[in-house]
Amino acid sequence: MQDKNHAESPERWAGLRVAVSGGTSGLGLALVRELRLSGAEVALVARERERVRSVALHSGAHGIVGDVADKQGIHRIALQITGLLGGLDVLINNASELGPVPLALLADTECEALEAALATNLLGPFRLGKALLGALAASAREGRGAVVLNVSSDAAVNPYPRWGAYGASKAALHHLSRIWNEEMARQGVRFLSLDPGDMDTPLHRLAAPEDDAATLKRPETAARELLAAIAAALPPPQTPAVSRSPLFAF
Ligand SMILES: NC(=O)c1ccc[n+]([C@@H]2O[C@H](COP(=O)([O-])OP(=O)(O)OC[C@H]3O[C@@H](n4cnc5c(N)ncnc54)[C@H](OP(=O)(O)O)[C@@H]3O)[C@@H](O)[C@H]2O)c1
Repeated sequence: MQDKNHAESPERWAGLRVAVSGGTSGLGLALVRELRLSGAEVALVARERERVRSVALHSGAHGIVGDVADKQGIHRIALQITGLLGGLDVLINNASELGPVPLALLADTECEALEAALATNLLGPFRLGKALLGALAASAREGRGAVVLNVSSDAAVNPYPRWGAYGASKAALHHLSRIWNEEMARQGVRFLSLDPGDMDTPLHRLAAPEDDAATLKRPETAARELLAAIAAALPPPQTPAVSRSPLFAF
């Protein structure tokens, strides 16, 4: 991926309405901070209430407490996103579940651990994307553009032993993104599936505690790369929208 600093053209993001799942840690937190610095209106979703409140307060993003793996909660999350932002231009499905921790061979993986990985990494982005397609298509019709970024992994394409639940869920998400991109092209909604690279985050520390953090990418670097890729998929900027005060939704 090209390392282009989107902050060179912050006007591209000014007033854009962006939702980030898993916006309280690692890559998601870096994305929220970068986006806010560039003037985007941001809604973040995560499960841990205090972290959501704190990140929302400090970043000026809208905080939504929610679990993307929870089928019953998806429409509430989608309604809060569009209600708080007044529509949606960019959805970033970033929240992620490793499956068994410590990582395990498939033969030693409980079905429930595979189900948990699929629920967060595949079904969550599918359900949230579906619930928000109307808002994204409306944004595309208005000429603002519409992009869904599904955060992928090299485990989606490489058969790493012990990464079975996570890798299978990310492979399915990657293919889902490619098909959705074909199906929604006429409506102007683009789907991207991008691997941020190995980053120094809590998830990586949980999965591979033996790795040397100094050899890993900073999540801030990955966030800037991903935002540059999204910006490249959006049409040229329009007049910035008016900024609004942060709100909480619990
Ligand atoms: N780190 C790496 O080396 C690496 C490499 C390749 C790809 N990736 C991908 O990059 C993305 C970010 O990973 P990361 O390393 O930054 O992870 P992280 O530090 O563990 O952060 C995960 C975030 O997702 C939230 N989350 C987890 N499950 C959720 C759920 N069911 N509903 C809502 N929010 C949920 C967490 O908050 P709560 O727990 O409060 O919900 C947290 O904010 C993931 O898609 C991951 O697969 C990471």
